[in-house]
Amino acid sequence: MRTQVAIIGAGPAGLMLGRLLDLAGIDNVIIERKSADYVLGRIRAGVLEQGSVDLMERAQVAGRLRAEGLIHHGTDLSFDGDRLRIDFAGLVGKHVTVYGQTEVTRDLMEARQGNTIYEAGNVAIHDFDGNPAVSWEQDGVTHRLDCDYIAGCDGYHGVSRASVPQEALTTFERTYPFGWLGILVDKPPVAHELIYAHHERGFALCSQRSNTRSRYYVQVPTDEKVENWSDDRFWDELRLRLNPETAEALQTGPSIEKSIAPLRSFVAEPLRFGKLFLAGDAAHIVPPTGAKGLNLAMSDVAMLADAMIELYAEKSAAGIDNYSQRALARIWKAERFSWWMTSLLHTFPETGRFGRRIQRAEFDYLSGSHAAQQVLAENYVGLPA
Ligand code: FAD
Ligand code: DHB
Repeated sequence: MRTQVAIIGAGPAGLMLGRLLDLAGIDNVIIERKSADYVLGRIRAGVLEQGSVDLMERAQVAGRLRAEGLIHHGTDLSFDGDRLRIDFAGLVGKHVTVYGQTEVTRDLMEARQGNTIYEAGNVAIHDFDGNPAVSWEQDGVTHRLDCDYIAGCDGYHGVSRASVPQEALTTFERTYPFGWLGILVDKPPVAHELIYAHHERGFALCSQRSNTRSRYYVQVPTDEKVENWSDDRFWDELRLRLNPETAEALQTGPSIEKSIAPLRSFVAEPLRFGKLFLAGDAAHIVPPTGAKGLNLAMSDVAMLADAMIELYAEKSAAGIDNYSQRALARIWKAERFSWWMTSLLHTFPETGRFGRRIQRAEFDYLSGSHAAQQVLAENYVGLPA
């Protein structure tokens, strides 16, 4: 088999890249280790920046998003029960759209024209400095796909970054001593907008997927087990971390999904190794607090698709030569913002009483400063590409 671009991973990054290449007439094959149903079963991001919505439009897959996405003109912060609304519209004239990653993935899967190989075992990358190829196993047979380029869109635990020699990579990492325990429930959201809440017991987030489906998170220690959390325990803990009126208004019900995600900041540099490119979570992780991970994956592949289109259509390598530098400039700004939101809102066991007072001062400063609120809003709605 031969193709122009072999894409590893059918998450949002791989599927969006495949779609943009398809529309430009560039042949591509996606190789995914899991089944399509498994990929669709992962409950992850919920907030899209305008740049991601625009990319869905460009990819001609925004019909359902336009009809079902919820426009949010602001978000709420809560600190020990004190509320502060960040008015995106008033501060920076922009908004975000609530539309689940599952739906983005489904829309892209349904539109896909090119070949996607699901349930590919033992995916391996060969000779990315020379004549690149990808191999995998299926039904006891080893397959090989020769290609011009490989796009590593296979997430943090994928094979792409792991195939690069250690000495060619520089990595930057910060782990946090906690994760997010998330619950999905078919009940209306507690508020029209999201609520990011800090409490001495830990962070909590009230999010949503639609007017009838809600997503809630609470900060838990890294080694916490999901089995230790009955639905009742989750709801009790969430209520304790919200302000009393919000806790009172919360509509609870049986969870339809419950999982724990660790928090990490991570960047690998560069994003290009010969004919192999990294994009999305394969290259970087942000803690979820700023709602940036999916949006970064989208902006990476928009840049990579444009670079490949330039290469095939205009025979110019300028785009692929600049991809790493251009994408990393945006990635680091999102890393900074996500780290800052995480630092403001979580409980850090090691920083003690001093750390909590600093967080309170930060919240009070934000409450009284139009400029500080503008900085938050500008970053949350998404910086320009
Ligand atoms: P992935 O979605 O991880 O996709 C990679 C794909 O590659 C997967 O399908 C995987 O099965 C496949 N794969 C892995 N290894 C191999 C292999 N060896 N061979 C072949 N295929 C392989 N981001 C936001 O922007 N906003 C949010 O609100 C937000 N909330 C989040 C909440 C939670 C709880 C979590 C966990 C994440 C959240 N994120 C959010 C982050 C966002 O979900 C990720 O950044 C996003 O999934 C990245 O997409 P990706 O395509 O790069 O990687
Ligand atoms: C969601 C996740 C986030 O990380 C965030 O900042 C906002 C919303 C969500 O899953 O709904």
